[in-house]
Amino acid sequence: MSLFRKKSLTFLLAQAADSEKGLKRSLTAWSLIALGIGAIIGAGLFVRTAAAAGGHAGPAVTLSFIVAALGCAFAGLCYAEFAAMIPIAGSAYTYSYATMGELVAWIIGWALVLEYALGAATVSIAWSEYFNRLFGGSIPYEWCHSPFSSAKDTMGVLHHGIINAPALLILLILSLLLIKGTQESALVNAIIVFIKVAIVLLFIGIGWKFINSANHVPYFIPADQPPVLQDNGKEWSYAPTFNHGIMGVLRGAAIVFFAFIGFDAVSTAAQEAKNPKKDMPIGILGSLVICTILYILFSYVLTGVAPFTEFMQAGKEASVAYAIEHHMPGYEWLATLVTVAILAGFSSVILVMLLGQSRVFYSMSNDGLLPGAFSTLHKKFRTPFKSNIILFLFVGAIATLLPGDITGDLTSIGTLFAFALVSAGVWIMRVKQPNAVRPFRTPWVPVVSSLGVLICLAMILSLDSTTKLTALAWMLVGLIIYFSYSRSRSKHKQDPE
Ligand code: ALA
Repeated sequence: MSLFRKKSLTFLLAQAADSEKGLKRSLTAWSLIALGIGAIIGAGLFVRTAAAAGGHAGPAVTLSFIVAALGCAFAGLCYAEFAAMIPIAGSAYTYSYATMGELVAWIIGWALVLEYALGAATVSIAWSEYFNRLFGGSIPYEWCHSPFSSAKDTMGVLHHGIINAPALLILLILSLLLIKGTQESALVNAIIVFIKVAIVLLFIGIGWKFINSANHVPYFIPADQPPVLQDNGKEWSYAPTFNHGIMGVLRGAAIVFFAFIGFDAVSTAAQEAKNPKKDMPIGILGSLVICTILYILFSYVLTGVAPFTEFMQAGKEASVAYAIEHHMPGYEWLATLVTVAILAGFSSVILVMLLGQSRVFYSMSNDGLLPGAFSTLHKKFRTPFKSNIILFLFVGAIATLLPGDITGDLTSIGTLFAFALVSAGVWIMRVKQPNAVRPFRTPWVPVVSSLGVLICLAMILSLDSTTKLTALAWMLVGLIIYFSYSRSRSKHKQDPE
Protein backbone atom coordinates (compact mmCIF):
# COMPACT_ATOMS: atom_id res chain seq x y z
CA MET A 1 0.00 0.00 0.00
CA SER A 2 1.81 3.12 -1.18
CA LEU A 3 1.66 6.54 0.38
CA PHE A 4 1.91 7.85 -3.14
CA ARG A 5 -0.93 5.91 -4.70
CA LYS A 6 -2.66 8.16 -7.22
CA LYS A 7 -6.01 8.54 -8.88
CA SER A 8 -5.34 8.12 -12.58
CA LEU A 9 -6.30 10.86 -15.02
CA THR A 10 -8.57 8.43 -16.84
CA PHE A 11 -10.33 7.62 -13.55
CA LEU A 12 -10.78 11.34 -12.72
CA LEU A 13 -12.13 12.17 -16.16
CA ALA A 14 -14.58 9.28 -15.87
CA GLN A 15 -15.68 10.70 -12.49
CA ALA A 16 -16.15 14.12 -14.10
CA ALA A 17 -18.20 12.63 -16.93
CA ASP A 18 -20.32 10.74 -14.40
CA SER A 19 -21.13 13.78 -12.34
CA GLU A 20 -21.97 15.74 -15.46
CA LYS A 21 -25.25 13.86 -15.46
CA GLY A 22 -26.27 15.52 -12.19
CA LEU A 23 -24.96 19.04 -12.58
CA LYS A 24 -26.25 21.67 -14.90
CA ARG A 25 -23.65 23.37 -17.01
CA SER A 26 -24.98 26.90 -16.84
CA LEU A 27 -22.01 29.15 -16.08
CA THR A 28 -20.56 31.27 -18.88
CA ALA A 29 -17.13 32.87 -18.87
CA TRP A 30 -18.67 36.11 -17.57
CA SER A 31 -20.52 34.40 -14.73
CA LEU A 32 -17.28 32.62 -13.81
CA ILE A 33 -15.45 35.95 -13.68
CA ALA A 34 -18.29 37.32 -11.53
CA LEU A 35 -18.08 34.26 -9.28
CA GLY A 36 -14.36 34.87 -8.88
CA ILE A 37 -14.79 38.55 -8.03
CA GLY A 38 -17.63 37.60 -5.65
CA ALA A 39 -15.26 35.34 -3.74
CA ILE A 40 -12.18 37.56 -4.04
CA ILE A 41 -13.07 41.12 -2.95
CA GLY A 42 -13.67 41.15 0.80
CA ALA A 43 -11.86 41.59 4.09
CA GLY A 44 -8.47 41.40 2.40
CA LEU A 45 -9.11 44.68 0.62
CA PHE A 46 -11.33 46.45 3.13
CA VAL A 47 -9.51 45.44 6.34
CA ARG A 48 -6.08 43.95 5.72
CA THR A 49 -4.85 46.66 3.33
CA ALA A 50 -4.83 49.03 6.29
CA ALA A 51 -3.17 46.44 8.56
CA ALA A 52 -0.38 45.82 6.02
CA ALA A 53 0.15 49.54 5.37
CA GLY A 54 -0.12 50.56 9.01
CA GLY A 55 2.24 48.00 10.50
CA HIS A 56 4.66 46.93 7.78
CA ALA A 57 4.66 48.48 4.30
CA GLY A 58 3.38 52.05 4.68
CA PRO A 59 2.44 53.70 1.35
CA ALA A 60 4.47 50.99 -0.44
CA VAL A 61 1.56 48.64 0.26
CA THR A 62 0.78 49.17 -3.46
CA LEU A 63 4.01 47.23 -4.13
CA SER A 64 2.88 44.56 -1.66
CA PHE A 65 -0.21 44.10 -3.82
CA ILE A 66 1.96 43.74 -6.94
CA VAL A 67 4.18 41.08 -5.27
CA ALA A 68 1.14 39.16 -4.00
CA ALA A 69 -0.51 39.47 -7.44
CA LEU A 70 2.61 38.03 -9.13
CA GLY A 71 2.58 34.99 -6.85
CA CYS A 72 -1.13 34.56 -7.57
CA ALA A 73 -0.68 35.07 -11.32
CA PHE A 74 1.88 32.25 -11.56
CA ALA A 75 -0.23 29.97 -9.37
CA GLY A 76 -3.37 31.11 -11.24
CA LEU A 77 -1.86 30.05 -14.59
CA CYS A 78 -1.13 26.63 -13.09
CA TYR A 79 -4.66 26.37 -11.64
CA ALA A 80 -6.01 27.26 -15.10
CA GLU A 81 -4.15 24.34 -16.71
CA PHE A 82 -5.45 21.88 -14.11
CA ALA A 83 -9.01 23.25 -14.03
CA ALA A 84 -9.34 22.94 -17.82
CA MET A 85 -7.69 19.52 -17.81
CA ILE A 86 -9.51 17.98 -14.82
CA PRO A 87 -12.84 19.85 -14.61
CA ILE A 88 -13.97 18.23 -11.37
CA ALA A 89 -14.75 19.43 -7.84
CA GLY A 90 -12.13 19.26 -5.09
CA SER A 91 -9.71 21.67 -6.77
CA ALA A 92 -6.14 21.54 -5.42
CA TYR A 93 -6.91 18.39 -3.42
CA THR A 94 -8.03 16.52 -6.55
CA TYR A 95 -5.14 17.79 -8.71
CA SER A 96 -2.56 16.62 -6.19
CA TYR A 97 -4.24 13.22 -5.84
CA ALA A 98 -3.58 12.81 -9.56
CA THR A 99 -0.03 14.12 -9.55
CA MET A 100 1.67 13.62 -6.22
CA GLY A 101 -0.38 10.88 -4.62
CA GLU A 102 -2.64 10.36 -1.66
CA LEU A 103 -0.42 11.61 1.15
CA VAL A 104 0.27 14.95 -0.54
CA ALA A 105 -3.42 15.18 -1.49
CA TRP A 106 -4.34 14.67 2.15
CA ILE A 107 -1.84 17.32 3.23
CA ILE A 108 -3.32 19.79 0.71
CA GLY A 109 -6.88 18.92 1.73
CA TRP A 110 -5.88 19.54 5.34
CA ALA A 111 -4.18 22.84 4.41
CA LEU A 112 -7.32 23.87 2.51
CA VAL A 113 -9.16 23.82 5.87
CA LEU A 114 -6.89 26.70 6.82
CA GLU A 115 -7.82 28.45 3.59
CA TYR A 116 -11.57 27.95 3.51
CA ALA A 117 -12.70 27.36 7.12
CA LEU A 118 -10.34 29.92 8.66
CA GLY A 119 -10.94 32.24 5.71
CA ALA A 120 -14.66 32.14 6.51
CA ALA A 121 -13.86 32.80 10.18
CA THR A 122 -11.62 35.78 9.30
CA VAL A 123 -14.20 37.39 7.04
CA SER A 124 -16.95 36.85 9.63
CA ILE A 125 -14.79 38.68 12.20
CA ALA A 126 -14.40 41.55 9.72
CA TRP A 127 -18.17 41.40 9.10
CA SER A 128 -18.67 41.87 12.83
CA GLU A 129 -16.45 44.98 12.86
CA TYR A 130 -18.35 46.65 10.03
CA PHE A 131 -21.72 45.52 11.46
CA ASN A 132 -20.88 47.21 14.74
CA ARG A 133 -19.78 50.30 12.84
CA LEU A 134 -23.19 50.41 11.12
CA PHE A 135 -24.80 50.72 14.56
CA GLY A 136 -22.46 53.49 15.63
CA GLY A 137 -20.30 51.10 17.68
CA SER A 138 -23.21 50.45 20.08
CA ILE A 139 -22.47 46.73 20.56
CA PRO A 140 -20.42 46.47 23.77
CA TYR A 141 -16.75 45.73 23.03
CA GLU A 142 -16.93 42.57 25.16
CA TRP A 143 -19.63 41.03 22.94
CA CYS A 144 -18.07 41.67 19.56
CA HIS A 145 -14.42 40.76 20.20
CA SER A 146 -12.42 37.64 20.98
CA PRO A 147 -11.04 37.07 24.50
CA PHE A 148 -7.58 37.81 23.06
CA SER A 149 -8.53 41.35 21.99
CA SER A 150 -8.49 44.46 24.14
CA ALA A 151 -8.80 48.21 23.59
CA LYS A 152 -9.20 51.42 25.55
CA ASP A 153 -12.38 53.45 25.09
CA THR A 154 -12.50 57.24 24.81
CA MET A 155 -12.50 57.51 28.63
CA GLY A 156 -9.29 55.50 28.78
CA VAL A 157 -10.98 52.39 30.25
CA LEU A 158 -9.46 49.15 29.02
CA HIS A 159 -11.98 46.58 27.72
CA HIS A 160 -11.36 42.88 27.04
CA GLY A 161 -13.38 40.86 24.55
CA ILE A 162 -15.50 37.88 25.72
CA ILE A 163 -17.06 36.49 22.56
CA ASN A 164 -17.59 37.72 19.02
CA ALA A 165 -21.37 37.30 18.82
CA PRO A 166 -22.09 39.05 15.47
CA ALA A 167 -19.49 36.82 13.76
CA LEU A 168 -21.33 33.78 15.09
CA LEU A 169 -24.64 35.19 13.90
CA ILE A 170 -23.58 35.68 10.28
CA LEU A 171 -21.98 32.22 10.19
CA LEU A 172 -25.21 30.69 11.50
CA ILE A 173 -27.37 32.48 8.93
CA LEU A 174 -25.11 31.52 6.02
CA SER A 175 -24.71 27.91 7.21
CA LEU A 176 -28.51 27.57 7.38
CA LEU A 177 -28.74 29.00 3.86
CA LEU A 178 -26.22 26.46 2.64
CA ILE A 179 -28.09 23.61 4.31
CA LYS A 180 -31.34 24.70 2.74
CA GLY A 181 -29.54 24.72 -0.58
CA THR A 182 -30.26 28.37 -1.24
CA GLN A 183 -27.10 28.88 -3.22
CA GLU A 184 -26.32 32.22 -4.79
CA SER A 185 -27.60 32.11 -8.27
CA ALA A 186 -25.34 33.61 -10.89
CA LEU A 187 -27.69 36.59 -10.95
CA VAL A 188 -27.61 37.30 -7.20
CA ASN A 189 -23.86 36.93 -7.22
CA ALA A 190 -23.60 39.31 -10.16
CA ILE A 191 -25.66 41.91 -8.27
CA ILE A 192 -23.40 41.69 -5.19
CA VAL A 193 -20.34 41.90 -7.42
CA PHE A 194 -21.78 44.94 -9.19
CA ILE A 195 -22.35 46.68 -5.82
CA LYS A 196 -18.90 45.75 -4.51
CA VAL A 197 -17.06 46.91 -7.62
CA ALA A 198 -19.15 50.10 -7.81
CA ILE A 199 -18.24 50.96 -4.20
CA VAL A 200 -14.55 50.31 -4.80
CA LEU A 201 -14.65 52.53 -7.92
CA LEU A 202 -16.60 55.21 -6.04
CA PHE A 203 -14.04 55.24 -3.23
CA ILE A 204 -11.17 55.41 -5.72
CA GLY A 205 -12.87 58.18 -7.73
CA ILE A 206 -13.90 60.37 -4.80
CA GLY A 207 -10.89 59.55 -2.61
CA TRP A 208 -8.52 60.57 -5.40
CA LYS A 209 -9.48 64.21 -4.80
CA PHE A 210 -8.52 63.89 -1.13
CA ILE A 211 -5.08 62.38 -1.66
CA ASN A 212 -2.48 64.35 0.26
CA SER A 213 0.78 63.62 -1.52
CA ALA A 214 2.68 64.17 1.75
CA ASN A 215 1.12 60.90 2.98
CA HIS A 216 2.96 59.02 0.21
CA VAL A 217 6.37 60.31 1.29
CA PRO A 218 8.60 58.54 2.16
CA TYR A 219 7.27 55.66 0.10
CA PHE A 220 8.94 52.95 2.21
CA ILE A 221 8.72 53.05 6.01
CA PRO A 222 12.14 54.24 7.26
CA ALA A 223 13.95 52.05 9.80
CA ASP A 224 13.92 54.94 12.28
CA GLN A 225 10.16 55.56 12.02
CA PRO A 226 8.98 56.47 15.56
CA PRO A 227 6.71 53.87 17.22
CA VAL A 228 2.95 54.49 17.48
CA LEU A 229 0.70 53.97 20.47
CA GLN A 230 -2.11 51.57 19.56
CA ASP A 231 -5.64 51.79 20.97
CA ASN A 232 -4.93 48.78 23.22
CA GLY A 233 -2.30 50.87 24.98
CA LYS A 234 0.63 48.93 23.48
CA GLU A 235 3.35 50.50 21.37
CA TRP A 236 3.92 49.34 17.78
CA SER A 237 7.58 49.46 16.81
CA TYR A 238 8.78 49.76 13.21
CA ALA A 239 12.30 48.61 14.09
CA PRO A 240 11.90 44.83 13.43
CA THR A 241 13.10 43.67 9.99
CA PHE A 242 9.64 42.98 8.59
CA ASN A 243 8.13 46.25 9.86
CA HIS A 244 9.90 48.67 7.52
CA GLY A 245 11.56 49.01 4.12
CA ILE A 246 11.56 46.31 1.44
CA MET A 247 11.13 43.45 3.91
CA GLY A 248 8.08 45.26 5.28
CA VAL A 249 6.71 45.24 1.72
CA LEU A 250 7.22 41.46 1.60
CA ARG A 251 5.42 40.96 4.92
CA GLY A 252 2.74 43.34 3.60
CA ALA A 253 2.43 41.09 0.52
CA ALA A 254 1.88 38.03 2.72
CA ILE A 255 -0.81 39.94 4.63
CA VAL A 256 -2.68 41.35 1.60
CA PHE A 257 -2.32 38.02 -0.16
CA PHE A 258 -5.53 37.27 1.71
CA ALA A 259 -7.27 39.72 -0.64
CA PHE A 260 -6.58 37.45 -3.63
CA ILE A 261 -7.82 34.23 -2.05
CA GLY A 262 -10.93 33.05 -3.79
CA PHE A 263 -9.86 32.98 -7.44
CA ASP A 264 -9.16 29.30 -6.92
CA ALA A 265 -12.79 28.91 -5.84
CA VAL A 266 -13.63 29.42 -9.53
CA SER A 267 -11.97 26.06 -10.17
CA THR A 268 -14.40 24.33 -7.81
CA ALA A 269 -17.21 25.35 -10.17
CA ALA A 270 -15.56 23.53 -13.07
CA GLN A 271 -18.35 20.98 -13.18
CA GLU A 272 -20.95 23.70 -13.65
CA ALA A 273 -19.16 25.61 -16.41
CA LYS A 274 -20.70 25.49 -19.90
CA ASN A 275 -17.36 25.19 -21.60
CA PRO A 276 -14.76 24.52 -18.89
CA LYS A 277 -11.88 23.98 -21.29
CA LYS A 278 -12.09 27.52 -22.60
CA ASP A 279 -13.91 29.34 -19.84
CA MET A 280 -12.06 28.13 -16.71
CA PRO A 281 -8.82 29.90 -17.65
CA ILE A 282 -10.81 33.04 -18.59
CA GLY A 283 -12.73 32.95 -15.28
CA ILE A 284 -9.66 32.37 -13.11
CA LEU A 285 -7.28 34.76 -14.83
CA GLY A 286 -9.91 37.37 -15.74
CA SER A 287 -11.11 37.81 -12.16
CA LEU A 288 -7.51 37.96 -10.98
CA VAL A 289 -6.54 40.72 -13.44
CA ILE A 290 -9.60 42.87 -12.69
CA CYS A 291 -9.09 42.59 -8.91
CA THR A 292 -5.37 43.35 -9.13
CA ILE A 293 -6.00 46.62 -10.97
CA LEU A 294 -8.70 47.63 -8.47
CA TYR A 295 -6.48 46.72 -5.49
CA ILE A 296 -3.49 48.76 -6.61
CA LEU A 297 -5.64 51.85 -7.22
CA PHE A 298 -7.55 51.36 -3.96
CA SER A 299 -4.46 51.00 -1.78
CA TYR A 300 -2.86 54.03 -3.46
CA VAL A 301 -5.90 56.14 -2.58
CA LEU A 302 -6.32 54.76 0.97
CA THR A 303 -2.71 55.49 1.94
CA GLY A 304 -2.92 58.87 0.21
CA VAL A 305 -6.05 59.91 2.09
CA ALA A 306 -4.84 59.00 5.62
CA PRO A 307 -1.33 58.77 7.11
CA PHE A 308 -0.47 55.06 7.38
CA THR A 309 0.30 55.30 11.11
CA GLU A 310 -3.38 56.02 11.82
CA PHE A 311 -4.18 52.49 10.68
CA MET A 312 -2.38 51.18 13.75
CA GLN A 313 -4.46 53.45 15.95
CA ALA A 314 -8.12 54.48 15.75
CA GLY A 315 -8.38 53.44 12.08
CA LYS A 316 -7.48 49.84 12.82
CA GLU A 317 -11.02 48.54 12.56
CA ALA A 318 -13.36 49.36 9.69
CA SER A 319 -10.50 51.33 8.15
CA VAL A 320 -12.26 52.44 4.96
CA ALA A 321 -15.20 53.94 6.86
CA TYR A 322 -12.66 55.54 9.23
CA ALA A 323 -10.68 57.12 6.38
CA ILE A 324 -13.86 58.53 4.82
CA GLU A 325 -15.22 59.91 8.10
CA HIS A 326 -11.95 61.51 9.20
CA HIS A 327 -10.32 62.59 5.96
CA MET A 328 -13.02 63.08 3.34
CA PRO A 329 -15.22 65.90 4.67
CA GLY A 330 -18.65 66.16 3.08
CA TYR A 331 -18.73 62.46 2.17
CA GLU A 332 -19.83 60.97 5.50
CA TRP A 333 -22.86 59.47 3.69
CA LEU A 334 -20.42 57.44 1.64
CA ALA A 335 -19.15 55.78 4.82
CA THR A 336 -22.60 54.30 5.55
CA LEU A 337 -23.05 53.21 1.93
CA VAL A 338 -19.61 51.64 1.92
CA THR A 339 -20.40 49.81 5.17
CA VAL A 340 -23.63 48.30 3.81
CA ALA A 341 -21.97 47.27 0.54
CA ILE A 342 -19.01 45.79 2.38
CA LEU A 343 -21.34 43.76 4.62
CA ALA A 344 -23.09 42.33 1.55
CA GLY A 345 -19.73 41.67 -0.07
CA PHE A 346 -18.32 39.90 2.99
CA SER A 347 -21.41 37.70 3.13
CA SER A 348 -20.81 36.38 -0.39
CA VAL A 349 -17.16 35.67 0.46
CA ILE A 350 -18.13 33.74 3.61
CA LEU A 351 -20.77 31.80 1.70
CA VAL A 352 -18.34 30.76 -1.05
CA MET A 353 -15.66 29.84 1.52
CA LEU A 354 -18.08 27.64 3.51
CA LEU A 355 -19.31 26.12 0.27
CA GLY A 356 -15.74 25.49 -0.94
CA GLN A 357 -14.83 23.85 2.36
CA SER A 358 -17.81 21.52 2.29
CA ARG A 359 -16.95 20.56 -1.32
CA VAL A 360 -13.37 19.69 -0.42
CA PHE A 361 -14.58 17.65 2.58
CA TYR A 362 -17.18 16.05 0.33
CA SER A 363 -14.46 14.85 -2.07
CA MET A 364 -12.22 13.67 0.78
CA SER A 365 -15.10 11.80 2.40
CA ASN A 366 -16.07 10.20 -0.92
CA ASP A 367 -12.48 8.98 -1.20
CA GLY A 368 -12.79 7.42 2.25
CA LEU A 369 -10.26 9.76 3.87
CA LEU A 370 -12.88 11.45 6.09
CA PRO A 371 -15.96 9.95 7.82
CA GLY A 372 -19.08 9.42 5.74
CA ALA A 373 -20.90 12.24 7.59
CA PHE A 374 -19.05 14.73 5.40
CA SER A 375 -20.62 13.34 2.25
CA THR A 376 -24.07 12.43 3.59
CA LEU A 377 -26.69 14.42 1.73
CA HIS A 378 -29.90 15.76 3.25
CA LYS A 379 -32.87 13.74 1.91
CA LYS A 380 -34.87 16.77 0.88
CA PHE A 381 -32.33 19.55 0.29
CA ARG A 382 -29.62 17.32 -1.25
CA THR A 383 -26.91 19.28 0.57
CA PRO A 384 -24.14 17.89 2.82
CA PHE A 385 -26.01 19.17 5.89
CA LYS A 386 -24.01 17.27 8.51
CA SER A 387 -20.82 18.69 7.07
CA ASN A 388 -22.36 22.19 7.18
CA ILE A 389 -23.35 21.76 10.84
CA ILE A 390 -19.90 20.45 11.88
CA LEU A 391 -18.29 23.27 9.92
CA PHE A 392 -20.51 25.87 11.57
CA LEU A 393 -19.47 24.62 15.01
CA PHE A 394 -15.77 24.56 14.08
CA VAL A 395 -15.67 27.88 12.21
CA GLY A 396 -17.98 29.48 14.78
CA ALA A 397 -15.70 28.51 17.66
CA ILE A 398 -12.69 30.00 15.87
CA ALA A 399 -14.48 33.18 14.84
CA THR A 400 -15.83 33.86 18.31
CA LEU A 401 -12.61 33.13 20.18
CA LEU A 402 -9.70 34.28 17.99
CA PRO A 403 -8.76 37.72 16.64
CA GLY A 404 -8.95 38.33 12.88
CA ASP A 405 -5.25 38.95 12.26
CA ILE A 406 -4.32 35.52 13.64
CA THR A 407 -6.97 33.65 11.62
CA GLY A 408 -6.14 35.80 8.56
CA ASP A 409 -2.45 34.91 8.61
CA LEU A 410 -3.28 31.22 9.06
CA THR A 411 -5.62 31.43 6.08
CA SER A 412 -2.84 32.96 4.01
CA ILE A 413 -0.27 30.34 4.97
CA GLY A 414 -2.64 27.45 4.17
CA THR A 415 -3.52 28.94 0.80
CA LEU A 416 0.09 29.80 -0.10
CA PHE A 417 1.03 26.23 0.65
CA ALA A 418 -1.75 24.88 -1.60
CA PHE A 419 -0.73 27.30 -4.38
CA ALA A 420 2.91 26.20 -4.13
CA LEU A 421 1.92 22.55 -4.44
CA VAL A 422 -0.46 23.17 -7.36
CA SER A 423 2.35 25.06 -9.15
CA ALA A 424 4.74 22.17 -8.56
CA GLY A 425 2.01 19.72 -9.61
CA VAL A 426 1.67 21.21 -13.11
CA TRP A 427 5.34 20.59 -13.78
CA ILE A 428 5.21 17.05 -12.37
CA MET A 429 2.19 16.26 -14.56
CA ARG A 430 4.00 17.63 -17.65
CA VAL A 431 6.93 15.30 -17.00
CA LYS A 432 4.88 12.23 -16.09
CA GLN A 433 2.07 12.59 -18.60
CA PRO A 434 3.44 14.73 -21.41
CA ASN A 435 0.80 13.56 -23.88
CA ALA A 436 -2.34 14.16 -21.78
CA VAL A 437 -4.86 16.51 -23.42
CA ARG A 438 -4.35 20.03 -22.10
CA PRO A 439 -6.97 22.50 -23.36
CA PHE A 440 -5.03 25.31 -21.64
CA ARG A 441 -1.27 25.18 -21.28
CA THR A 442 0.50 27.25 -18.64
CA PRO A 443 3.16 29.17 -20.59
CA TRP A 444 6.89 28.71 -19.95
CA VAL A 445 6.74 25.69 -17.66
CA PRO A 446 8.90 25.08 -15.63
CA VAL A 447 9.82 28.80 -15.28
CA VAL A 448 6.30 29.95 -14.39
CA SER A 449 5.60 26.99 -12.09
CA SER A 450 8.97 27.41 -10.31
CA LEU A 451 8.35 31.14 -9.84
CA GLY A 452 4.89 30.29 -8.46
CA VAL A 453 6.48 27.96 -5.91
CA LEU A 454 9.27 30.41 -5.02
CA ILE A 455 7.12 33.51 -4.54
CA CYS A 456 4.57 31.59 -2.46
CA LEU A 457 7.36 30.10 -0.30
CA ALA A 458 8.96 33.55 0.14
CA MET A 459 5.64 34.93 1.37
CA ILE A 460 5.24 31.96 3.75
CA LEU A 461 8.71 32.65 5.19
CA SER A 462 7.92 36.31 5.76
CA LEU A 463 4.93 35.45 7.97
CA ASP A 464 5.54 35.60 11.71
CA SER A 465 6.85 32.58 13.55
CA THR A 466 3.70 32.05 15.66
CA THR A 467 1.68 31.64 12.46
CA LYS A 468 4.25 29.24 11.00
CA LEU A 469 4.37 27.16 14.18
CA THR A 470 0.58 27.04 14.50
CA ALA A 471 0.29 25.94 10.86
CA LEU A 472 2.93 23.29 11.46
CA ALA A 473 1.06 22.02 14.51
CA TRP A 474 -2.13 21.91 12.41
CA MET A 475 -0.35 19.86 9.73
CA LEU A 476 1.03 17.46 12.36
CA VAL A 477 -2.49 16.87 13.71
CA GLY A 478 -3.51 16.18 10.10
CA LEU A 479 -0.74 13.62 9.65
CA ILE A 480 -1.72 11.83 12.87
CA ILE A 481 -5.31 11.58 11.62
CA TYR A 482 -4.13 10.38 8.20
CA PHE A 483 -1.95 7.59 9.57
CA SER A 484 -4.33 6.52 12.34
CA TYR A 485 -7.62 6.76 10.42
CA SER A 486 -7.66 7.77 6.76
CA ARG A 487 -4.92 5.70 5.22
CA SER A 488 -6.47 2.34 6.00
CA ARG A 489 -9.93 3.50 4.93
CA SER A 490 -8.94 4.95 1.56
CA LYS A 491 -11.16 3.73 -1.26
CA HIS A 492 -8.38 4.03 -3.81
CA LYS A 493 -6.07 1.30 -2.64
CA GLN A 494 -6.66 -0.64 -5.80
CA ASP A 495 -6.67 2.16 -8.35
CA PRO A 496 -4.13 1.81 -11.10
CA GLU A 497 -1.48 4.49 -11.46
N1 ALA B 1 -10.26 37.30 -0.74
C1 ALA B 1 -11.26 37.18 0.24
C2 ALA B 1 -11.33 38.39 1.09
O1 ALA B 1 -10.52 39.26 0.94
C3 ALA B 1 -11.05 35.98 1.09
O2 ALA B 1 -12.20 38.49 1.93
